[in-house]
Amino acid sequence: MRIFVDSANEKEILYLLRQGIVDGVTTNPSIMLKDGISDVEGAARRLCALLGDRPVSVEVTSNDHQEMLEQARTFATWGRNIVVKIPVVNEFGESSLDVINELTGKAIAVNATAILSFNQALLATKAGATYVSIFAGRIADEGNDPAQTIRHVRSWLDEWEYSAKIIVGSVRTAIDIQNAALAGAHIVTVPPPFFPKMIDHKYTRDTVRQFNRDAEKALQEIAVARAAVAVSGNGH
Ligand code: E4P
Repeated sequence: MRIFVDSANEKEILYLLRQGIVDGVTTNPSIMLKDGISDVEGAARRLCALLGDRPVSVEVTSNDHQEMLEQARTFATWGRNIVVKIPVVNEFGESSLDVINELTGKAIAVNATAILSFNQALLATKAGATYVSIFAGRIADEGNDPAQTIRHVRSWLDEWEYSAKIIVGSVRTAIDIQNAALAGAHIVTVPPPFFPKMIDHKYTRDTVRQFNRDAEKALQEIAVARAAVAVSGNGH
């Protein structure tokens, strides 16, 4: 399974890259706003360079299909690892599948986003999306079970041998990551604050503390034993 970072914060992404756990980055307009980015092009170009060959998703910001296509074509010039995020419908519920299909036909990688149901993932896959982003937290917000949607989409993709990959986003708690991984997500996109929660454990700290204390004690005992041998040696 791959891990993406759901962030546009270069410092945090660099810190995580150095830990060897980052396979890509996803952003959206809300993330850009939260991370204080006004120059989207500059930020996206820097992220693309930072990530090397790993994908960086940047989202279009229009309801109009022509504008979506123009934005997508511009984004694609910012880096060879750019992936264009296209919401499966616009805010009026109009299908974006034609946009997804056209971009895919022009070899621009598409991340079909804001997916909340199995059928949306099915159609985005059929239209040619490289990634289908299932929003776990938002599915749960509506009282539905994201793990079931992820499981169903994964088994359908596998059964029909589609190459689209499931990205699970909208992570709200650490258990969402585990649930997504076990439900068959190819990728989970994780906001930076969750990484310390994933790795840290108070009993692990206690365990390491115990080992360090015992190692210290053992060194002291060895030192005492050596001193005793030295004293008895001097007595001869
Ligand atoms: C990732 O691709 C999504 O844009 C993001 O995870 C959405 O998260 P949210 O539902 O917390 O806004």
